[in-house]
Amino acid sequence: MRSSIVAAVFSFAVAVSGHGVLLAIDGEPGSKTSVGFEVDDNVARNCTGISPCQQDTTIIREAEIAAKTVGFCGRTQLAGPLDTQKEVEEAIKGDSITEVKGGTSLAIKIHQVNADGAGPYDCVVNQSGDDAGQATELVVSNNVPGENGFSPAKFEAFTINVAMPDNFKCTGGSTKDICIIRCRNNALAGPFGGCTAVRQVGAGGGGGDNKAAGNNKKDDKKNNNKNARGFTLKWARRALGF
Ligand SMILES: *[C@@H]1O[C@H](CO)[C@@H](O)[C@H](O)[C@H]1NC(C)=O
Ligand SMILES: *[C@@H]1O[C@H](CO)[C@@H](O)[C@H](O)[C@H]1NC(C)=O
Repeated sequence: MRSSIVAAVFSFAVAVSGHGVLLAIDGEPGSKTSVGFEVDDNVARNCTGISPCQQDTTIIREAEIAAKTVGFCGRTQLAGPLDTQKEVEEAIKGDSITEVKGGTSLAIKIHQVNADGAGPYDCVVNQSGDDAGQATELVVSNNVPGENGFSPAKFEAFTINVAMPDNFKCTGGSTKDICIIRCRNNALAGPFGGCTAVRQVGAGGGGGDNKAAGNNKKDDKKNNNKNARGFTLKWARRALGF
């Protein structure tokens, strides 16, 4: 009796070693669609088992990042630890990067393989993609249903909406205009999720070129106007008429 309970619990635990995959990331209308790093089109999406259906799920654990056994984007069964820089360059070469602007929103399609690929998902943007890069928390709406990364859903895709900040500057990749978006749930066996590359366009975007630098100055001015210094500047402008 007892052993059968143990067996049942064990098989349940194995069955829920779970997972979600970032299948498609869409930013500005008309731009390309990004895909999660190391997401493999050949992996079946119609089952829950480790092999084949969890092979390209990304596992992103803080403890592993701290121990430096993985980087910012974790690891998959198929690819092992992900080399973030290499993934970014491959996405640039493959011309498969969606575009983003300040204050707009991303649609991220997450394939939930089984129970603990559920929501809610937390997303951050890493603006430089290198070790100096800040990871800024993003506001997620329309999140994948679930509690602590757990729900009864399986092989089902959900689309979450992720708001980009008003002001940010993507400086990653050889093109110097790439940010990394990382989303993950907080499942015990995970967290599961993934990373992808996005390209900044419009104000503040375009990396090192002069136009972008000019735009940034304008953005800085706008920001300054919001704080006390900017306030003083505004009054000085008014008084002196410049
Ligand atoms: C599951 O998907 C794979 C391809 O990804 C296909 O070969 C297989 O027949 C599908 N199985 C079922 C039961 O639909
Ligand atoms: C941003 O990403 C890089 C990996 O490309 C990583 O080294 C860095 O630590 C990340 N920043 C943060 C704050 O996690």
